[in-house]
Amino acid sequence: MQLLDGKATAMSIKKELKEAVDLRKKEGKKIPHLAAVLVGSDGGSMTYVNAKVKACDEIGFESTLIRYDDSVSEEVIMNKVKSLNEDNSIDGFIVQLPLPKHIDELKITQAIDPRKDVDGFHPMNLGNMVLNLPGFLPATPAGIVELLKRNDIDTEGKECVVIGRSNIVGTPLSIMLGRNTNPGNCTVTLTHSRTKNLKEIVSKADIVIAAIGRPEFVTADMIKEGAVVVDVGTTRVEDSSKVKGWALKGDVKFDEVSKKCSYISPVPGGVGPMTIASLMINTLRAMDLKGK
Ligand code: GUN
Repeated sequence: MQLLDGKATAMSIKKELKEAVDLRKKEGKKIPHLAAVLVGSDGGSMTYVNAKVKACDEIGFESTLIRYDDSVSEEVIMNKVKSLNEDNSIDGFIVQLPLPKHIDELKITQAIDPRKDVDGFHPMNLGNMVLNLPGFLPATPAGIVELLKRNDIDTEGKECVVIGRSNIVGTPLSIMLGRNTNPGNCTVTLTHSRTKNLKEIVSKADIVIAAIGRPEFVTADMIKEGAVVVDVGTTRVEDSSKVKGWALKGDVKFDEVSKKCSYISPVPGGVGPMTIASLMINTLRAMDLKGK
């Protein structure tokens, strides 16, 4: 078994991006500027957003973090999105999800200017992705595809099963892996909570992507010998042996599945760092697209 080391892969992407930024600085060009909107104090969201800001610092991007209380109104967030759309100094921005229940996530993501939508969540970017037209690819699926590519995983003609159909991971990823691209050209099955015979379907897969947010859901008996396994799960579970009192658990039972598969991405250090690297790639592109 070999590790799909997202941390190391993301580090080499960030190094490439830093070189591109250093060159821009030398040429007196604008430095990419990412803004992130964070609502509330959910531990997971704060960790992700802080990691995004840290990645900007490492690469040399500018970043701005805008924080609101859980009780903030939808109108205030909508107005912030509008002002970020119009702010010329900001090249791209994200609104970290999930948002509190009283704020309509779809309404917010649809209000983001697609040219600044570096998360690739806007319907225009998702539509462009489906049609294989230029646009921003959603960060986590794009990170997974890049992880496969940079680890020389052959996807051509492979049976790929995606578990979970979320708007930000499972659904877009199932389309990306089925497109006529490299990586791509998989025969994709998108499975979800209503899927019958899930175990049987997963056990035929050459590539399994677990993105359901249920800790250790995928067990060794579901996995074909030599399969490639990508774990997108990041659930915090209580763990009194840790100083923080919790540990991050993936959707895959790593200890047993790793003995059976050819490649596996760990949690943490797999998909998470790749999501951040993709966001950074999109931010640099956002600025390039504007011809700055
Ligand atoms: N919540 C979980 N993943 C993501 C992501 O990639 N972007 C945003 N904005 N929110 C998320």
